Amino acid sequence: MRKNLVWAWARELKYEIREIVELANQIKSYWVNITWENIWDPVAKGESIPEWMKKIVIEACEKDSTYWYCPTKWLETAREFIANRRKNLSKDDIIFFNWLWDAINKIYTNLSFDARVIWPNPAYSTHSSAEANHAWSEHITYSLDPNNWWNPDLEELENKVKYNPNIAWILVVNPDNPTWAVFKKEVLEKIIDIARRYSLFVVFDEIYEKLVYNIEDRVILSDIIWEVPGISMKWASKDLPWPGARCGWIEIYNADKDANFREYVKSILNSKMLEVCSTTLPQAVLPTIYSSPEYEKYRLQRIEKYKTRAKLATEILWDLDLISVVEPKWAFYLSITFNTEKFPSSPSLAIENKDLKEFIEWKMSGLRFDKRFCYYLLASTGICSVPLSWFNSHYNWFRITLLEENLDKYKSILQTIREAIIEFSK
Ligand SMILES: Cc1ncc(COP(=O)(O)O)c(C=O)c1O
Repeated sequence: MRKNLVWAWARELKYEIREIVELANQIKSYWVNITWENIWDPVAKGESIPEWMKKIVIEACEKDSTYWYCPTKWLETAREFIANRRKNLSKDDIIFFNWLWDAINKIYTNLSFDARVIWPNPAYSTHSSAEANHAWSEHITYSLDPNNWWNPDLEELENKVKYNPNIAWILVVNPDNPTWAVFKKEVLEKIIDIARRYSLFVVFDEIYEKLVYNIEDRVILSDIIWEVPGISMKWASKDLPWPGARCGWIEIYNADKDANFREYVKSILNSKMLEVCSTTLPQAVLPTIYSSPEYEKYRLQRIEKYKTRAKLATEILWDLDLISVVEPKWAFYLSITFNTEKFPSSPSLAIENKDLKEFIEWKMSGLRFDKRFCYYLLASTGICSVPLSWFNSHYNWFRITLLEENLDKYKSILQTIREAIIEFSK
């Protein structure tokens, strides 16, 4: 008999942010108008690409050199540009990737089989899926505490590291997804100190660092890493309205201080070489875009816009004792956590169309509370949100974006959600 083609941990590869889109498209066929609140894509949400940025991209498209293979690590000019803006980083310690999954995939698959990663709970699912896939084993996590501004439980982190010799690296997502927290310098320094004392390395996913609302809250790995080996992941699809560029890079710190870490980094580069290089166009234009005087103005304007929406959302929802809402500290989502003990055992929302009601109730049989709410919300109001228990978390919660361009429309989305939560509790 033929061998089973599907490996044991294949079920760990899932991306519910996109899966709910399939369901929403099915629901559309029942004549429901969908309001997309599931994913951060400013362009899909109506944000136009600034003219100055388009001009830079068009100029690059007119040069023949934009069409060649670039070096594996990245274009020299771009690496120099980044290295000059960081402490303790040389241009040779930067590797460019096609998108962050390309980087995430390579850093997890090149890690030896029994070397494990401890990561936050809740956690951004691409990391957790990749780690489970790499280790074929249950996750090892440290908790983020919603009652303490989602700060990490450092005692738990240290205990787990101390008693599990397989843990080789600590993952920190800062600014964090899906809690929208930004961790304070002293908290991050304590994590680095744990890594130092137990000879671990750290990986900081910092793809949102330019989108922190208050500049004094912004602390990046290069500022605090000391002598600990570490990797910072950066990504251009968030602070530029260009998610389709699929363009990011990793910055490697202190490889000279640890021979084993150096060899591991070399294996990441070697596996990148098998693909020759990443896409040339986004890397060719990044230095010009980031150093344009327009960029900073544009970034600040966007932050202001998201901040206004974060405040508004919190104001509309905060007094409901059925839920908890922690005001986001960076763009561009809001999470809503259910106080499930205040809801009946089989809550529902009214759906006028009988066929749709039957369809959605069949779809949701056996689902967790937050997913059940999101499915009902979608079928009953057309609002497509993302259930968050899937982010490896035991909370029942969901997220919406802060992206809606039209403020009146945004208010009405929030009011509809508020009313749906109340109805769900009856
Ligand atoms: C923390 C974090 N890292 C990486 C990514 C990957 O970004 P993208 O979806 O643009 O590939 C995301 C996306 O939401 C994220 O939240």
